[in-house]
Amino acid sequence: MKSTRRKFLQASVISSAAVLTGGQALAGSIVQPRPATNGSIVISTWDFGRAANAAAWSILERKGRALDAVEAGVRVPEADPSNQSVGYGGLPDRDGRVTLDACIMDEFYNCGSVMALEHITHAISVARLVMEKTPHIVLAGDGALQFALANGFKKENLLTPESEKAWKEWLKRSRYEPAINVENQLFRKENSSYPGGAENHDTIGMVALDASGNLSGACTTSGLAYKIHGRVGDSPIIGAGLYVDNEVGAATSTGVGEEVIRIVGSHLVVELMRQGHSPEAACKMAVQRIIKRSPEKSKNIQVGFLALNKKGEYGAYALQKGFTYAVKSSKTELVKPSKSIYG
Ligand code: GLY
Repeated sequence: MKSTRRKFLQASVISSAAVLTGGQALAGSIVQPRPATNGSIVISTWDFGRAANAAAWSILERKGRALDAVEAGVRVPEADPSNQSVGYGGLPDRDGRVTLDACIMDEFYNCGSVMALEHITHAISVARLVMEKTPHIVLAGDGALQFALANGFKKENLLTPESEKAWKEWLKRSRYEPAINVENQLFRKENSSYPGGAENHDTIGMVALDASGNLSGACTTSGLAYKIHGRVGDSPIIGAGLYVDNEVGAATSTGVGEEVIRIVGSHLVVELMRQGHSPEAACKMAVQRIIKRSPEKSKNIQVGFLALNKKGEYGAYALQKGFTYAVKSSKTELVKPSKSIYG
């Protein structure tokens, strides 16, 4: 009894000392280092990132793990039928099938991905299960679906009446152009009720830094509208649509996936930050790499990068005007336009 009470008192003294020292470890004590303040931050692509950030923040503000925050965050647009580029209600491929791509990565280089997954709204949660429950990183197509069903996910119809109507309209022209902005501008012209708003929106990529100073990221999309069945973009490809290196920073991308894959864009942004570039400068250099590779094509497509470094500094850059991103921390809540090369 006495010994239990002594242990309790010792523990109390250690905790009080930790409080007095701002949560830092005392030399020689057994207290684990903890940040004195919550320096958490979450950033995500496009203006719909604001609602996603709010869900992520509810975890980060309680000093939860960045991995849990990014999964919870991107589940918001995945479940939103008015968002026609992610999850439930996503625009289908040219055969009328909604196929989802998603990936997730944590602070230990653990990662998981699903490609061309059908019938499951929360592709990101399936990707997380691939990461946590299998020795693999990627599951694709029917194998990904079977894995999801075996792990308790329910089969759903992801094609909403609105997206089906849009697809049937597209079928009248059936023009296949892997140019996201151009395609959607035409689409919006013909569909004034298009919920995407004034600019093309595609893919949510989210990266976060938690109170323990760890980074994680998630990326999820229904991909290019009316794509060839089986087409996979950058979003579920680790290094292309998302990359996290807990020593350096994290990055994600949006836009025409083919161009991002070509330069392994998100990995490139992280490596440029490792070389000492700011998140914005690293994103700009990645965009310039796309221009160098495809000078003519780059004038007519959109690609945007978003990055966060280990210090909680963030930045973005895009090919075209119109890319926005959302930021949430204890000090800030905003949606801002990214700088761009053209326009
Ligand atoms: N960035 C989304 C895609 O190309 O599928």
